[in-house]
Amino acid sequence: MPRHLVSIADLDASEIVRILDHGDRYWDLVNEPIKKLTALRGRTVINLFFENSTRTRTSFEIAAKRLSAEAINISSSGSSVAKGETLLDTADNLQAMHPDVIVVRHSFGGAAAMLAQHVRCAVINAGDGQHEHPTQALLDAATIRRAKGRPLGGDPRSLAGLEVAIVGDIARSRVARSNILCLAKLGARVRLVAPLTLIPRGIELIGGEQTRERVRIVHRLEEGLDGVDVVMMLRIQHERGGGEAPRFPNTRELSRTFGLSERTLGFAKPDAIVMHPGPINRGVELSPQVADGPRAVILQQVSWGVAIRMAVLERAVLGLDAATVANVDAVPA
Ligand code: CP
Repeated sequence: MPRHLVSIADLDASEIVRILDHGDRYWDLVNEPIKKLTALRGRTVINLFFENSTRTRTSFEIAAKRLSAEAINISSSGSSVAKGETLLDTADNLQAMHPDVIVVRHSFGGAAAMLAQHVRCAVINAGDGQHEHPTQALLDAATIRRAKGRPLGGDPRSLAGLEVAIVGDIARSRVARSNILCLAKLGARVRLVAPLTLIPRGIELIGGEQTRERVRIVHRLEEGLDGVDVVMMLRIQHERGGGEAPRFPNTRELSRTFGLSERTLGFAKPDAIVMHPGPINRGVELSPQVADGPRAVILQQVSWGVAIRMAVLERAVLGLDAATVANVDAVPA
C-alpha cells in the first residue's frame, strides 16, 4: 500500500513524532560540504503544482534531490491542464510514467485525497484549497520543538504545556487546519485569534474531542496573545475570496486591530517565538521590526521544511523503518 500523506488527521501522535525525529537527523546536513544522500536513488518524485508556491515546491525539490531521487516539476501554466485536461486525466498520464511519489498542490480542497484514491504511487498533499497543508504543520512542529528545547526521541506529548496563538485569516487557512490537528495531537493548547468573521463556526471540533478540549477561540488580540509561548501569524488570503462579500471592512483596519507589532508581541511570554508560514505581507499581519526581529523563526521554518520533507518522502517511498536502515549507509561520513 502506498504511504500517502493527505491529512494530519491520518497520523497519530507517535507517527508524527517519528517523522519529526527522522527529519531531525537531516537538520545538520546543511553543514556538510556534500548534502547528498542515496536513500531514494533511482526513484522519481513529481511535483504537480496547480497553485503558486515558493517554499513548498522548492523544498520538496531540494529534499528529493538531497535523497538522490529524480525530481520533476510540473505547473498548471506549463502543462496540458491549460488546454483543458482534467486532474484525473493528468494523473493517469503521470502514473503511466511510473513515478514513486506525486506531490500535489491544488486549489480544490480534496484534490490530494482524490489523487490518492486514483493512482498507484504515494501522494503527498502540498496544500489543497482551504483543507490542509500537512507538511507545513509538521515543519512547524519541528521548529517549535527545537526552539522550545522540547525532548526529541519519540515523545508523543513533546509540545505538552505550550500555548500557541494562531492569528489572522483562519477561515481560509489550510495551514491553520493542519496546525490545529498537529498541535493538539502533540499536547499543545491552541488559541485561534481573529474577528468573528474569520473563524469558521465549529472549527474547534475538526479533531473531535481532542481539539474541542485544546482549542479556544478569542476575538481580541491582546487576550489571544496573553502569556503564549508561540505566535503563529497568517496572511489574509485574498486569492480564496472568490467574489464573496468582504469579511472585514478593510485590510488597514484588520492590520491595526489584529496585526503583530513590537507592542502587541509584548503580551506574549518574553521568550515567545514568532512564526509565519510565508509568504509574509510586511506591515499587514506583522510589522517589519517583528518579522526581522530576534524572536522571529520564520526562516528557520523554511530550513526545517527541507529536513521534514526529506523524512516525508522517505516515509512515502520506503516507510520509516526501512528508511532508518537505508540511511545508516547513506549519511555522508
Ligand atoms: N508556506 C507555503 O506553503 O508557502 P508557499 O506557498 O510559498 O509554498
